[in-house]
Amino acid sequence: MLALKRRAAIAALEYAKKYSVIGIGTGSTVDCFIDELVAIKSTIDMVVSSSDRSTQKLKALGFHVVDLNYVGTLPIYIDSADEIDRHKRMIKGGGGALAREKILAMASREFLCIVDKTKKVDVLGKFPVAVEVLPLARGLVARAILKLGGNPVWRENFFTDNRNIILDVHDLDMTDPMFMETQIKQLTGVVESGIFALRSADRLICAENEEYSCEN
Ligand code: 5RP
Repeated sequence: MLALKRRAAIAALEYAKKYSVIGIGTGSTVDCFIDELVAIKSTIDMVVSSSDRSTQKLKALGFHVVDLNYVGTLPIYIDSADEIDRHKRMIKGGGGALAREKILAMASREFLCIVDKTKKVDVLGKFPVAVEVLPLARGLVARAILKLGGNPVWRENFFTDNRNIILDVHDLDMTDPMFMETQIKQLTGVVESGIFALRSADRLICAENEEYSCEN
């Protein structure tokens, strides 16, 4: 599967090279993308990163990493997903970076999602929805999520870059992802959820075997 992730990453370079400022996501697909980005490093003035993991890798490769507040609006944000449907709505957060990823996605003019073919689904929800929660509110939020029909599982011994915890929520009814995103967001103690429906992707690059497809 890594070969497909790399293929999607290489295809994304065509879009990345139009911009001198880029928002960068998190995960193994994005790691491939960062490796490829080195080839056009001289054309990139600065990058904004969605996680400590990506920041470390970018800095080690010599990229100038800046805070989002320094840039304001991002011309493009490039990231992957755990699932994506035909409306380019996503479940993200398998790596636990969902809150910063959503902030960068919301701050971007264009969200380019890069995936391998295993991530495309008809209906979102097989992959559990990660919910970032303030540690003190773990029980409160878990009980509220049960009332929404989900089964929350605490990702033990894991803290986000924001020092919060993650509840991985199984069995949510995801027939209306925007509704569920809004419902979860309203719960006191929730920082963010990994449902990206209110801000879906604008463009999707999907690697399939020897080829890739691009959907706008
Ligand atoms: C991290 C994410 C990632 O985009 C998602 O988990 C996909 O990861 P990978 O590229 O490793 O399959 O949302 O929080």
